Amino acid sequence: MNHPSKMHNLFITFLIMFFSCTKPSSALRGGVLVGSWKPIPDITDPTVISIGKFAIYEHNKESHVSLKFAKVIKGDQQVVAGMNYNLTITASDRGVRKNYVALVWDKPWLKFRKLVSFKGPV
Ligand SMILES: *[C@@H]1O[C@H](CO)[C@@H](O)[C@H](O)[C@H]1NC(C)=O
Repeated sequence: MNHPSKMHNLFITFLIMFFSCTKPSSALRGGVLVGSWKPIPDITDPTVISIGKFAIYEHNKESHVSLKFAKVIKGDQQVVAGMNYNLTITASDRGVRKNYVALVWDKPWLKFRKLVSFKGPV
């Protein structure tokens, strides 16, 4: 009597292990790994500057304005499929310096860059 019962327990243990191992973890749900927003350590980094200029260029094109990029004053980044950049940018609007907040999605290996949102002056 003792022996079959031990086999039975082993089988249940195996089932529990199998199902707990195949349950998808929450961080990988949908197959996409998304990180949290973190401050950009160096806002003078050439990639960050280039993202900032791109945001102003795209906004000018979409909204038929002609803001001139001055500098990035702060920003956060988030790892997605690529990187999201949330930058606060100083640009001059007909000679008057104002701040704007731009969200840019960058996938450098595909040379893909998209202005997701542009707000301001803030
Ligand atoms: C982007 O940064 C601005 C200014 O710091 C902040 O108000 C806004 O909530 C941020 N957006 C995101 C998506 O984190």
